[in-house]
Amino acid sequence: MTKRLGVIGYPLGHTLSPVFQQAGLDAIGLDATFEAWPTPPEELAQKVERFRSPDYLGICVTLPHKQAVIPLLDSVDVAAQEIGAVNWIINREGKLTGYNTDAPGFLRALKEELDFDPEGKRALVVGAGGAARAIVYALRSGAVADLVIANRTVGRANDLVAHFRREGWEPKAIGLDRAGLEAAARSADLIVNTSSVGMAGGPNPDASPIPPAAISPQTVVYDIVYAPAVTPLLRDTLAAGARGATGLSMLVYQGVIGFELSTGREAPADVMMKAAREGAAARH
Ligand code: ATR
Repeated sequence: MTKRLGVIGYPLGHTLSPVFQQAGLDAIGLDATFEAWPTPPEELAQKVERFRSPDYLGICVTLPHKQAVIPLLDSVDVAAQEIGAVNWIINREGKLTGYNTDAPGFLRALKEELDFDPEGKRALVVGAGGAARAIVYALRSGAVADLVIANRTVGRANDLVAHFRREGWEPKAIGLDRAGLEAAARSADLIVNTSSVGMAGGPNPDASPIPPAAISPQTVVYDIVYAPAVTPLLRDTLAAGARGATGLSMLVYQGVIGFELSTGREAPADVMMKAAREGAAARH
């Protein structure tokens, strides 16, 4: 029986997941397909029920379903519970378990693409929406020493601090006023943009969330936005002589971990990364 994997979200027009996931499945010679299943919210429950059938292995979940799938599953692993979002569903003999691979995928992208280990470092995260939750969780589990969360709406940054703080580990919440943001950026070893500033098709596509003068050559910058391939923040980072990357590697590594959970096989990460880069280039 040909096994099935896929991605559910709505809309799904631009997804790269089928391109690099199918390349990975083919490379290991598994008789399986990875498809895009655009699923409007009102069809989610019915669609998820079908994933209990034995031909389904694993399903990647993207916007807007990452929270809504949770009550439809049999169990949710602890990281996904704390983040409050599931981005992979694994079918084991008709029982559906939810995982969050965005957080470990981000840490792996930092390591593989930028050779950066957050342990003991100072980090600045811009944005406090859904995407920021997995990043803050990842940085805490990666033992970052100091964390500042900067957001246009400070109350949302405060909510993240309240949710993720632990004894001896308390992030600081700030707004986007220039002086405060510059100071936080200057003292950070790592800057991560999780906001939609700089995203093609987003509310502010031509802007960078960080004042360029605050990026020093020692700063490492990760912009989780991956369209365009060179975001305004990455452009300023490279101009400052610093190392930086955009979110394509996080997209691929969340998928690599999901592939491994789904198939029980080691994912051919290099093949998948190459296919994703080619797929992204073909779209620009
Ligand atoms: P996601 O789940 O992708 O993180 P989201 O929950 O809508 O999406 O969050 C988007 C993030 O981008 C938020 O941090 C948002 O700031 P607010 O919480 O103040 O809304 C941020 N953002 C969006 N547009 C922005 C802009 N023009 N300037 C600054 N921040 C912006």
